[in-house]
Amino acid sequence: MQILNIIGSPRKNGTSARIAKSFVETSEENGASVKSYYLNGLNYKGCQGCEACHSKLDKCVLKDDAEELLDEMREADVIVFSSPVYYGDTTGQFKSFLDRTWSHVDVNYENENPYTSRIPKGKHAVVILGQGNSEDVHKDLVERFQMFMDIYGLQLHVIRATGLNGQANQDVTAFQEEANMLANELTKELAS
Ligand SMILES: Cc1cc2nc3c(=O)[nH]c(=O)nc-3n(C[C@H](O)[C@H](O)[C@H](O)COP(=O)(O)O)c2cc1C
Repeated sequence: MQILNIIGSPRKNGTSARIAKSFVETSEENGASVKSYYLNGLNYKGCQGCEACHSKLDKCVLKDDAEELLDEMREADVIVFSSPVYYGDTTGQFKSFLDRTWSHVDVNYENENPYTSRIPKGKHAVVILGQGNSEDVHKDLVERFQMFMDIYGLQLHVIRATGLNGQANQDVTAFQEEANMLANELTKELAS
């Protein structure tokens, strides 16, 4: 089982990155192989809207650090996306990368459902979102992720770490335990 771990917080050891780390470490203990990418340390542009991925190629035409990561997305069995909530959305670093994943969708506007995923079927997405606000705030972000993951054909699992106090090193044990449980479930399911 291959896991792709995409870290969207600029804080490498912040709350969301540590919850993601728990998920991948437990998966590794269960035999998975993991590749982690820290978006804040990569050089890449946001989508240029050139639509070359829908007219010339079946992938993004831009040559930068996101290329390898986009390729890995088609290979991995589980893709872990983690980000803090910044102004009601993911971080700018994460959002710029997410826009590039438009190249994973084939579009034919003449069809009733115009979107076909270029990511092979049967894969999972684990979305880890951390925020200062309580659980009832920013639910719309989860709904939007559900919509995008449906288009990609990825089965979505969400871990929301809410009510955080802003400190990178605060205790997130409860959310790490949730991540460990999910890792055990998914590794078991994918091994069978
Ligand atoms: C620029 C900025 C914007 C933020 N915006 C929000 C927000 O809109 N809603 C919220 O609940 N928390 C917001 N927060 C709090 C972070 O989501 C919270 O501290 C989170 O735990 C940080 O995650 P990290 O440790 O993984 O970096 C914001 C923090 C920063 C630095």
